[in-house]
Amino acid sequence: MTHVVTQSCCNDASCVHACPVNCIHPTPDEPDFATSEMLYIDPASCVDCGACITACPVGAIVPHGALDDARRPFLTINADFYRRPRPPAPILAPVSEPLRVRPRPEPPRVAIVGSGPAAMYAADELLTCPGARVDVYERLPFPYGLARTGVAPDHRSTRQIAEQFDTIARQDGFRLHTGVEVGRDVTHDDLLARHHAVLYAVGAASDRRLDVPGASLAATATEFVAWYNGHPDHADRAFDLAHRRAVIVGNGNVALDVARILTTDPDVLADTDIARPALEALRASRVEEVVVAGRRGPAQSAFTLSELVGLLSVPGVDVTVPAEDLESAANEDGGALPLLRTLAERGSGARRRIVLRYLLTPERILGDARATGVEFARNELALAEGTVRAVPTGERESVDAGLVLTSIGYRGRPVPGLPFDDATGTVPNRLGRVVDPASGDPVPGVYVAGWIKRGPTGFIGTNKTCARETVRALIEDYNNDRLPAPHLTR
Ligand SMILES: Cc1cc2nc3c(=O)[nH]c(=O)nc-3n(C[C@H](O)[C@H](O)[C@H](O)COP(=O)(O)OP(=O)(O)OC[C@H]3O[C@@H](n4cnc5c(N)ncnc54)[C@H](O)[C@@H]3O)c2cc1C
Ligand SMILES: NC(=O)c1ccc[n+]([C@@H]2O[C@H](COP(=O)([O-])OP(=O)(O)OC[C@H]3O[C@@H](n4cnc5c(N)ncnc54)[C@H](OP(=O)(O)O)[C@@H]3O)[C@@H](O)[C@H]2O)c1
Ligand code: SF4
Ligand code: SF4
Repeated sequence: MTHVVTQSCCNDASCVHACPVNCIHPTPDEPDFATSEMLYIDPASCVDCGACITACPVGAIVPHGALDDARRPFLTINADFYRRPRPPAPILAPVSEPLRVRPRPEPPRVAIVGSGPAAMYAADELLTCPGARVDVYERLPFPYGLARTGVAPDHRSTRQIAEQFDTIARQDGFRLHTGVEVGRDVTHDDLLARHHAVLYAVGAASDRRLDVPGASLAATATEFVAWYNGHPDHADRAFDLAHRRAVIVGNGNVALDVARILTTDPDVLADTDIARPALEALRASRVEEVVVAGRRGPAQSAFTLSELVGLLSVPGVDVTVPAEDLESAANEDGGALPLLRTLAERGSGARRRIVLRYLLTPERILGDARATGVEFARNELALAEGTVRAVPTGERESVDAGLVLTSIGYRGRPVPGLPFDDATGTVPNRLGRVVDPASGDPVPGVYVAGWIKRGPTGFIGTNKTCARETVRALIEDYNNDRLPAPHLTR
């Protein structure tokens, strides 16, 4: 018997520190941690003590014997990770050094802008300093960023992370100010006058835009996700669900979330905290088929294996891949490929289906006043500078659809008064210290964490390691008198 990490893992590594025999990897100090889709338990070393279950904030760890059918594939997924060569691990899990704060007359006082995962993990780390005070400013009427407005409503266990954030928020020294937009309701200079430092964890609120004719006829996954999650900026949106087919451009985990929400039985969604207007619209939906179109091949799918496994367990929905779309990966293996091959033209005749398509780049969104489909260029793959790229073959393919959604990634917005790298949509920084790109010098008292620091990739827990790195830099500056004491106390 062993314990198993299942799909709702958010990579925060709490389990790693709880495990007495160090059998959960990669650990945050291992090189593959930053890119790992999830963490895995080594069945050969697990002693079944159950300590990791209590440590996991999202209920992702299950004893082998308690796995239901939907999560049984994770037994193999966990074990397979240890079949690949790995460096030998030390017996005990890594212990992270506690923050050491040099006593100064005024304990650290930090303003954090945003209240998403990066902000909450940064606050938690800062509050380990004796006497520290953290003021968190959030523009929305409620906290926790994409953990609330991004994570899909049917990912119930992942949403439980909010309970861990509630625990962080209950600590002495923590103050949350919701409905306050920094830059509009309060300025950066106001915050710096009252705190030793300002840490921006504002996420990546915008999205990458498709630059093709007719692009304005497509909606974005950012808007669709915000709508079904009741984000106040998008509550009044309407989406055309009257046609039998929808197309999603891009095949990351957000695209799979959207495809799943579009095809899941609304009676199942009714049991979640999906926004009620979205639920009513989905009840009236005529969408029967969702095409998820990737521009490269199956081996380059941007979604994670765990999310694909989750998609396959949605009742009443077939997930298929046309056999010819798998041909470009005929000589490859690993990742999601073995599972994708089992989906070739698979179908049980369910009323709704999701079709994963490959090698299609949108050239034009068709339609006049509203989208009626997408014209795609068909691609082949070519290796250029170590990266597999999509190259058009000259062939075209049109797909009819009433709803076209682009899900091609999020993008940071410039923060007033801070330098901004337009190419990456991030604030230039070193280890979380904001730097002036012209001089390369740190901007005193200003830090970043989360998606605005490193770009829009990674799971909720990835922001824990990221926030820790920033807070360590901040406290090092505080200890070395690089952060003048705030001159206003209120
Ligand atoms: C659709 C979607 C679904 C996802 N699902 C999962 C999942 O199931 N599991 C998982 O592990 N990861 C998931 N992720 C990834 C995860 O949500 C991100 O890694 C994480 O939320 C990034 O954290 P952040 O704190 O950098 O940004 P955010 O979560 O975006 O938080 C930023 C916060 O800053 C606030 N803010 C912005 N500007 C200001 C301002 N000027 N003043 C005050 N407040 C401001 C925003 O309102 C927001 O609350 C998902 C991501 C998306 C987009
Ligand atoms: N359940 C979860 O754990 C969960 C859920 C949602 C999101 N997240 C995380 O949140 C992050 C963001 O996810 P995401 O889905 O928004 O982004 P993503 O993983 O970066 O996927 C973006 C997709 O858009 C495609 N794309 C980019 N530019 C394009 C263009 N111009 N034309 C056509 N296609 C284009 C990409 O193709 P190429 O690969 O060819 O560039 C890729 O398929 C990810 O790290 C994700 O894992 C996690
Ligand atoms: S059950 Fe115990 S030994 Fe097994 S992974 Fe969890 S903490 Fe480690
Ligand atoms: S969510 Fe965190 S504690 Fe749970 S399994 Fe994943 S890394 Fe471990």
